[in-house]
Amino acid sequence: MSTYVVVGLQYGDEGKGKITDVLSAKSDYVVRYQGGDNAGHTVYVGDEKFVLHLLPSGVLQCKGKCIIANGVVVNPKSFIREIEQLESKGMRTDHVFISRRAHVIMPYHIMLDTYREDEAGGTEIGTTKKGIGPCYEDKIARVGIRMVDLLNPEVLREKIEKNLRVKNSLFEKYFEKPTMDFEEIYAEFLELGRILQDRIVDTEVELNEAIKAGKNVLFEGAQALMLDIDFGTYPYVTSSSPSTGGVCTGAGVPPTALENLIGVSKAYTTRVGNGPFPSELHDELGERMRTVGNEFGATTGRPRRTGWLDLVSLKHACMINGINNLVITKLDVLSGIKPLKIVTHYKTEDGKIIDYFTSSTTKLDLYEPIYHELDGWDEDISHARTYEELPLNAKNYIEYIESYLGINVYLVSVGPERSQNIIRKELF
Ligand code: GDP
Ligand code: IMO
Ligand code: MG
Repeated sequence: MSTYVVVGLQYGDEGKGKITDVLSAKSDYVVRYQGGDNAGHTVYVGDEKFVLHLLPSGVLQCKGKCIIANGVVVNPKSFIREIEQLESKGMRTDHVFISRRAHVIMPYHIMLDTYREDEAGGTEIGTTKKGIGPCYEDKIARVGIRMVDLLNPEVLREKIEKNLRVKNSLFEKYFEKPTMDFEEIYAEFLELGRILQDRIVDTEVELNEAIKAGKNVLFEGAQALMLDIDFGTYPYVTSSSPSTGGVCTGAGVPPTALENLIGVSKAYTTRVGNGPFPSELHDELGERMRTVGNEFGATTGRPRRTGWLDLVSLKHACMINGINNLVITKLDVLSGIKPLKIVTHYKTEDGKIIDYFTSSTTKLDLYEPIYHELDGWDEDISHARTYEELPLNAKNYIEYIESYLGINVYLVSVGPERSQNIIRKELF
């Protein structure tokens, strides 16, 4: 009985949802601790596809509770939509709860996100336009609205009025857009509070007690380390801390309680949205990865940019997260690509060879990746369920990653379906 943290090591969409789903069957709690409905976590159960944006992917299998903790920014309308979708498929959702401390994404956050992106003229981040950044801004500025506020009509009125005065002035004077109506927003969010009241609870005490009692508690990261507000490719990042460190502030759990730190990486790299991507492929091979890997965003439908696996950035992500168990997903997508390349170093603009990740996003664009080449394989590996069944060159690929990073790969994913896994060591 222990704690498990599943985080993305690249630019998101590594397959965290699928891995969380697999692990959640044995979990007593599955907890989201950061991000919001900008996430898109896909789980295939047989031919049936589930995409979770705000709810923990554990909702499908976890027999215990699913928690949206304080560090998440919650769009209550998205929450209700997802709950209704699951219930319409006959799934139970009475085990899903939201922290009273979680901040609420308001309609003016979404408009602000949208207007900023639309007027950026080439320098846009490529956000999901879900209002994530503006909601976290208000949280840090100490003017945000929390889930608990939806249950108090007076406080809610005061907070919306105060926020709307500032936001409307910005919309009207800076963006030259229509203002938003107080009464409409107030009535809608009061009603949302009424609908959700039984699910809005204190979560940190219960989670800490569960950990002390030796229950299995699984934390599901959204986004990924290279999109981390501090350690990603700033400013082309999201506005939260998707790292394992984010669990502590995002769920109220001390660092000493975190045990199995599971980092998920694809066998290659994808990125959706703007920002540097040193190993990006702009050729037919990149197109092939996109088509075979079905690399289209689960939230926005945008085509994902594709490229080779980058061990320099992966090492950075493993270091910041303290990863002690690796998962490599989508190895099946590399079948038939020969040779395979992996970034091991960068050559800087002044000719220096480095193997660490830089803090300068502008410089990263000028760096030239240095690749190690490995032989590929032709076999379809999607039916493999034991490590021994993999072709020699697929094993060599996995073992090269392990030796570069000094961390064991405990699970290799070879297809989108729940059961398409090679588990080398059961974690629990
Ligand atoms: P997440 O955001 O990290 O949960 O990842 P997404 O769900 O956004 O994107 C991962 C995509 O890859 C989804 O469509 C998954 O169904 C799919 N997927 C996950 N693991 C594998 C795998 O091993 N092989 C293949 N072919 N697809 C996978
Ligand atoms: P999951 O959990 C991939 C990207 C956006 C954009 C940047 C900022 O499915 O891995 P935001 O809306 O968060 O302000 O956008 O982050 N982004 C993601 N990319 N997967 C995600 O989530 C993402 N969530 C945000 O494309 O570049
Ligand atoms: Mg995703």
